[in-house]
Amino acid sequence: MVLEEILLPAEEIGRKVEELAREINQDYAGRRVTVVGVLKGAYVFVADLLRHLDPLLEVRLDFISVSSYGNAQKSSGEVRLLKDLEESVEGKNVLLVEDIVDTGLTLDYLCRLLWARRPADLRVCVLLDKRSRRVVKVPLDYVGFVIPDRFVVGYGLDCAGMYRHLPYVAAVRVEE
Ligand code: IMP
Repeated sequence: MVLEEILLPAEEIGRKVEELAREINQDYAGRRVTVVGVLKGAYVFVADLLRHLDPLLEVRLDFISVSSYGNAQKSSGEVRLLKDLEESVEGKNVLLVEDIVDTGLTLDYLCRLLWARRPADLRVCVLLDKRSRRVVKVPLDYVGFVIPDRFVVGYGLDCAGMYRHLPYVAAVRVEE
């Protein structure tokens, strides 16, 4: 695997996360919110985003884990639930936080799963949107960056389980 270029430096991501948090603070003012982070990819984004949420907001945090691509770079179209939420979301305002939306299959699966549990409201926040690759329409309420069709790592995103620790988002090329 070759790191080709840094697409989003850490400072740029930091500014965007603050911007998204400002929007979320306004939209949820006076309400409770249950943030659902999608593991593992969204762990850095969730951690940064939550620290910019209004201290007066009643924020709960839960995690859900679904299978991603494994070692391949193509979506198999099959999504598997690896770890469920710990608390019920029935009647709650849920904010689903995901690292990246590519084909949309993972988010579509997660939204169906969560809506079936009758939350009061469900909104979706993604850091990265590979819009050109979408095969299923998913409503996105908060979007950090629309990125080109390149495989990216860093800021929580991996390639074969590695590079999640990079503070920036970089495009990679995987050699056969
Ligand atoms: P989708 O189901 O095709 O929208 O893919 C979403 C999931 O695929 C994400 O949660 C990531 O785990 C993974 N993914 C998609 N594109 C990338 C990428 O460029 N780098 C790392 N993971 C990716």
